[in-house]
Amino acid sequence: MDASMLEETVQNPNPYPIVAELEYPDIWHLFVQARDLAWDADRAIDWASLKEECKDLPPEVLESGAEWWSLRAWMEHGATPYGAERYRQAVFEHLPFEIKQHVTNFIFEELRHHEASWRIADALGGYQPLPRSDYFKMVIPKFHDEKDETQMSFYGGMAVNTLFEQLSGELLTARYKNARPPQIRKACELILRDEARHIQFGRILMKRFFEDLSEAEKVMLGEKFTKKLRGSLLNGVYAVVNLPKEERKRAARARTLAAEYGLGATHPDEEVGIIVSALRDIREDVAPYGVPIPAIPEIEGA
Ligand SMILES: [Fe+2]
Ligand SMILES: [Fe+2]
Repeated sequence: MDASMLEETVQNPNPYPIVAELEYPDIWHLFVQARDLAWDADRAIDWASLKEECKDLPPEVLESGAEWWSLRAWMEHGATPYGAERYRQAVFEHLPFEIKQHVTNFIFEELRHHEASWRIADALGGYQPLPRSDYFKMVIPKFHDEKDETQMSFYGGMAVNTLFEQLSGELLTARYKNARPPQIRKACELILRDEARHIQFGRILMKRFFEDLSEAEKVMLGEKFTKKLRGSLLNGVYAVVNLPKEERKRAARARTLAAEYGLGATHPDEEVGIIVSALRDIREDVAPYGVPIPAIPEIEGA
């Protein structure tokens, strides 16, 4: 290989100094909690019981449940490349070790959410590794755009991401309430417990770093949040607001079935309401820091 090419592609910075001083005890505390509350999908869920709990459901319902939990699995998986980029950035920027530790936990936790989700899909009608519609195949890979992420500071970008987790958490709570088979309920509960910690991380970041942001960055963070929301949740993954008409009909029917039978799903129309009210809460949360969240006419009206 051409030596000059190697010089261009190798980007490892000098890793030193590798900082080992605790700077943020509240973030370290999150790590301690994460360690104490760790679970793994294999042992935490009784998979044989889940099969038993669902064995009498009609095939169409099982199929709908599998589709729904496959979608959940893809979304959880989507958080891991995002996390990997943040880890890389934390190393490059010589951030304190508790930040790297938190990001590592975050990746690990999203992966176990992924595992729990695909295994539920598998236990119902079979996990689907690929979205059925071309539309999903096209939009899902666009949810994480590193170009957007790197325009923000590390802490600003992570805070935006956790605002987003707050919204997903609200949707997840509704799904937890919907879930009737005890093992699906259990999975939702464990996932929610992790998400609560991810959201707490965002609150700590806002408290610690948002006071010092420039007006321009505050405006940008609000815009990035809205863009992310438009580009993912509203693009059909959860709320199906922007789905093409035919797919919207089919997906809505499948989700209605999954929700009616209490498989830990929510109906698209119900989701819009949850997103609107979560958005209101988030606006209030960030208002003290002067971060403006632009209106989203698709769901909030003009
Ligand atoms: Fe998750
Ligand atoms: Fe999360």
